[in-house]
Amino acid sequence: MKTLEIPLILPDHRFNQYWDITILAATIYAAIALPLSLVFDLSDNVGLEILNWIITGIFGLDILVRFNLGYMEQGKLVRDKKVIARRYRRGWFVLDLLAFLPFSLILPASLLGINNVLRVFRLNRLFKLLRIGRTLQRINTRNVNPAIVRLLLLIFWVLLAAHFIAVLWIIVRGNPNNLSNPELYVESFYWTITTLTTIGYGDITPDGMGQTIFVIVIEIVGAGVYGLVVGNIANIIANIDVAKSQHKEKTEKINTFLKYKAIPNELRKKINNYYDYLWESRRGYNEASVLKELPGPLRTQVSIHIHKEIIEKVPIFAGASESFIREIILNLKPVVFTPGDYIVRAGDIGYDMFFISKGVVEVLSPDESITYATLTDGQFFGEMALLLSSPRTATIKALEYSDLYSLDIDTFERVLDRYPDFKQTMKDLAAQRKAENEAKKK
Ligand code: CMP
Repeated sequence: MKTLEIPLILPDHRFNQYWDITILAATIYAAIALPLSLVFDLSDNVGLEILNWIITGIFGLDILVRFNLGYMEQGKLVRDKKVIARRYRRGWFVLDLLAFLPFSLILPASLLGINNVLRVFRLNRLFKLLRIGRTLQRINTRNVNPAIVRLLLLIFWVLLAAHFIAVLWIIVRGNPNNLSNPELYVESFYWTITTLTTIGYGDITPDGMGQTIFVIVIEIVGAGVYGLVVGNIANIIANIDVAKSQHKEKTEKINTFLKYKAIPNELRKKINNYYDYLWESRRGYNEASVLKELPGPLRTQVSIHIHKEIIEKVPIFAGASESFIREIILNLKPVVFTPGDYIVRAGDIGYDMFFISKGVVEVLSPDESITYATLTDGQFFGEMALLLSSPRTATIKALEYSDLYSLDIDTFERVLDRYPDFKQTMKDLAAQRKAENEAKKK
């Protein structure tokens, strides 16, 4: 007889996202509804019983899915079903099975009186809660800030714990004021929250030793949970924007150092403005050090993506071959200059040329009396010294915050050798600039 063969489910298939969301929804529903069915007689609610069947079905299917879900191990996709099954059986299978067992259907509410202890078996679904963190991680989370997901999860756990305690309080205390089900629950939840948050108005008090012991336990737990939650929230909020807090820490450290070294106020202000600019323009990240972390092919792809804009802006790159662009891109280093900074000084030896990504610079005669030109986005400078093996022919000053990319002399010469067209363009431009300057000097 042929057995039913389920095809292998690939871990990055879209189906997994939807399935994880389904499991999450079913788990949350079960976690909220099942404790309520312990204290309230809901046996005549057909809708709830149907939902229970559906959840049994979903949890059962989940076991089937897990037995057929490939996974990545050390960068390799494991597709062997026997290996997948062995791993699952040793891991979550038992808990998944416990959560699946349809106790609520074997022991339907209608057969059990409201006081029957066997009802507790219905809570087996809660085993699924143990996986909720992992499921959430899988569903997201590349787009949502992980700190926010952790915050939501923390709030969820606290509210769920309060829900369980509220139900327990109903079990311990009963319904002394003969309230309706919703009223009783709301009153109990209110008591739980005031006790857990250590507010405790004292309007609902324990009656008898059993209730008093229960309240003592909840108060002790509450004080601990409260501290834990407040501490965690502070930590999570600090982590919501790791980049921002790291940047802040860095600038604070630098400022302490500058103060300690009695750096003049004016210069300190300039340095702070520079850091503000780094934050606004690149969220404080150092592009070069991020790229350095990546292996070769990934670095090329990310580099091309990051530098796409500058490649599009610089006219001499238009129509250039891919290998030429790759060669240049991989060797571009971002540099930032603040207004008034000297980027190049006439007469110095040149080791780099520069492409302007964003900003404005002025090209000045060596004595700074003549402005030869003003250069902006997409233009470049510093090629003449490299090309002619001569000192810098002009001084260049930043007029605004300028994001530049520098290209070192070794790469420049290698590229010139390999791409004669590029060499010719550079030579023509250098000659043209030289002639322009001569004319301006007269
Ligand atoms: P370099 O001599 O290495 O350093 C100064 C740079 O100023 C020079 O290379 C050119 O790139 C640039 N430069 C000089 N004259 C002009 C000009 N007239 N227009 C634009 N850029 C210039």
